[in-house]
Amino acid sequence: MASPRGEFSSRFGFIMAAAGSAVGLGNIWGFPTQAASNGGAAFLLVYLFLAFTLAYPALMAELIIGRHAHANAVSALRQISPNRVLRSIGGGTGVIGLVVASFILSFYAIVAGWMLAHCLAALTDLAGMGAASDWLTDFSFSRNLVFMLIFMALTVGIISEGVQQGIERWSSRLMPLLLLSLVLLVIYVLTLDGAMEGLRVYLLPDFERALAPGLIVKALGAAFFSLSLGVGTMLIYGSYISDRENLPVVGGLVTLVDICIAVLAGFLVLPAMYVALNSGVEIFTAGGALISEDTLIFTVLPKLFDSMGLAGIGVSLVFFFLMTIAALTSSISMLEVPVAYTIEEHGVARKPAVLVIGATIALVSTVILLNFEALFGLVIAVTTRYSQPLLGFMFCLYAGWVWHRDTLLQELRKGNAGVEHSLFWKLWPGYVRVFCPLIILLIFAQSLLE
Ligand code: PFF
Repeated sequence: MASPRGEFSSRFGFIMAAAGSAVGLGNIWGFPTQAASNGGAAFLLVYLFLAFTLAYPALMAELIIGRHAHANAVSALRQISPNRVLRSIGGGTGVIGLVVASFILSFYAIVAGWMLAHCLAALTDLAGMGAASDWLTDFSFSRNLVFMLIFMALTVGIISEGVQQGIERWSSRLMPLLLLSLVLLVIYVLTLDGAMEGLRVYLLPDFERALAPGLIVKALGAAFFSLSLGVGTMLIYGSYISDRENLPVVGGLVTLVDICIAVLAGFLVLPAMYVALNSGVEIFTAGGALISEDTLIFTVLPKLFDSMGLAGIGVSLVFFFLMTIAALTSSISMLEVPVAYTIEEHGVARKPAVLVIGATIALVSTVILLNFEALFGLVIAVTTRYSQPLLGFMFCLYAGWVWHRDTLLQELRKGNAGVEHSLFWKLWPGYVRVFCPLIILLIFAQSLLE
């Protein structure tokens, strides 16, 4: 029977779309800069540990609930609830998730706009248009606003095309390009003077810093942000997967691709920082802390590219183009969360829903830009560091305690008839019931005590 809802047409398409959502600014802008300022390899180890032990099980909870319910997070959590109270809590969790997804998009579009502006700056450099390049790379309200709006327009354009024509088609084109460009850039950067020092920082753990207060919460937030968890994105993508797919395997592949790209981006950004340092660019304060974490790659990398002469312009173009692509495959997944809800729950057609929601989010981004110092960091911390893990905690409780275990097993059997004999089924249910919620709470309790 033809499904009235959108569905991914192939496994490759789904993996590209879900990995496209997961791989984004979090991997290439967020993770490497956090690793650089939090003990290098030590942060890497904590992040890897949390990604495999907490984020992967939480991702599976979202994918399984999503595919079972074939619906957005709000109605999916209601569907699997056995009584009224749990239905309301589930619906409420879904609604908070879609609000958080929208706020994430509101800051994400700003950062993605910077990427786009720097990408264009490489072209104006080539054309010898110095004044235009300066406007594109200097931090100003007009530049930030214009490029946030362009980026939002691109996101709106893709999402209004729907699942197969929009999300799947674009993710399958853009993701392989992203991976290829990243690998080429890493190879290039590693041949430059100073790169080995960066590699040393990245690969030799400084355990004293790994145990520093707040680091585990940061790494947890980074892992949940990186896998797009808690806000219903992965649940929605799960709802578009066909019943033939073996969910633990595709979820595992998505996790692996995401983690590999974050780790790979570390091989680019950390060595690049030290190459820049080697050629006289300041990246540390006198106290040894990194300068301006949020904008680090926008200060360090352009200087690095400048120092490479004409080749630097090409490298800059590729790098910022790649970042824009990575951001776009993630932003479409964020916008799909409120859009799918509005279409499915309120019967609105896709195009008007996308336009109205996109415009509202652009308005929120404008408010953030007008109050940048006060709001930008705050919105990032509240949405990614706190809301995402706590919402992930709720999804684990719903998958582990609220949803009937037999229905859950039946859902998994669809793509893998012998799943109850697999290691996944031996470990995951108990894991998502007890281990994940407990550890998430413990990490939060520890951060409150600090
Ligand atoms: N995972 C994306 C990244 O690493 O950049 C960010 C993200 C996408 C967060 C989608 C939340 C979301 F719903």
